[in-house]
Amino acid sequence: MSLFLDNAATSFPKPESVYRAMDAAMREVGVAPGRGGYRQSLAAARIVYEARSALARFFGVRDSSRLIFTHSATESINIALNGLLKPGDHVVSTSVEHNALLRPLHLMRTRGVQVTFVQADHFGVVSEREMAKAIRPGTRLVAMAHCSNVTGVVQPIAETARLAREAGALFLVDAAQSAGFLPVDVGAIGIDLLAAPGHKGLFGPPGTGILTVAEGLRLEPLLVGGTGGNASSPEQPEEMPERLESGTINTPAIAGLKAGLEFIETTGLETIRKKEKALVDQLLVGLRAMPGIQVFGPPHGERGAAVSFNAAGHDPAALGYLLDTGYDIAVRSGLHCAPDVHRTIGSYPAGTVRVSPGYFNAEGEIEFFLKALREILAGKR
Ligand SMILES: Cc1ncc(COP(=O)(O)O)c(C=O)c1O
Repeated sequence: MSLFLDNAATSFPKPESVYRAMDAAMREVGVAPGRGGYRQSLAAARIVYEARSALARFFGVRDSSRLIFTHSATESINIALNGLLKPGDHVVSTSVEHNALLRPLHLMRTRGVQVTFVQADHFGVVSEREMAKAIRPGTRLVAMAHCSNVTGVVQPIAETARLAREAGALFLVDAAQSAGFLPVDVGAIGIDLLAAPGHKGLFGPPGTGILTVAEGLRLEPLLVGGTGGNASSPEQPEEMPERLESGTINTPAIAGLKAGLEFIETTGLETIRKKEKALVDQLLVGLRAMPGIQVFGPPHGERGAAVSFNAAGHDPAALGYLLDTGYDIAVRSGLHCAPDVHRTIGSYPAGTVRVSPGYFNAEGEIEFFLKALREILAGKR
């Protein structure tokens, strides 16, 4: 039996109810939502509406029309940055961002947007003080990840939201690693733009994501086209969510995402977090007890469910290969699409081995992984 420890990329497996919901939506509904007035299309529209409402509630978004469906956190970030930024705008971000934010910011730079990257410390932690120094009057946007996909570091987003607000800047959070793991309340924290994948902690299928857009904030759409409403006008509608949601929505995928969220709500976010935290703690204790292992991230404090390490004298890619071929264990090695994190924590260019357990992993599986690693390091494989 293969052991999947790459949940930071995409959670696997999904709850049974997700598979069932997708199958049912595909067979029984399976049409474009809201495009036709007939019952089947209305049923599809109801699934999308209920999913939107449930996600809005979950993330503390008062008006569910301010939550749009996308294909990924990456797409959400692109819609936000392209829709908001103009040449001359100033953005503050950090030295520990995923390419999903880093590359769109880089592109924005080539279009005349100024970006200040705040340096995190060597654990990958961003300090509120450094953020405060970089944010200036007139800063248009502060954009950062809530939780790192490499180190698991949880960044101070509530404090940064306050700094942004005081400076009159908007605040974008990449919640790719925290959505479905940590509570994220957009309204209470003061997040103007929240980008989250549906396919990681929310247990939806690949190809799902969301973006929340604060009330009163008008974004230029990245994509224009059919929305199911205002068909006679050549202009993209002003109303949300249609303004930012062109093209036929993937109803079966949204049905799966809705079932994923229902699973979280019936299980309890706290229960999920406790279980994943216990697995992460078990990993940390086991890894730290092995000679020659360097575990990245801070020694104490809150962590997400991604643990990165390196073993002296071993290439991370070779370790990943041996775990896969020798033990059928799926971990990820390399840069994890976040080269600047490695430049910050000192693991560039080889990267790290990343182990990311999920809710469906068991203690015995972490033990199996640790035993496999010990054997590899002892040269038994
Ligand atoms: C911190 C972070 N941001 C963004 C992303 C991109 O998410 P998606 O694959 O949904 O585009 C990831 C995915 O690994 C991530 O870990």
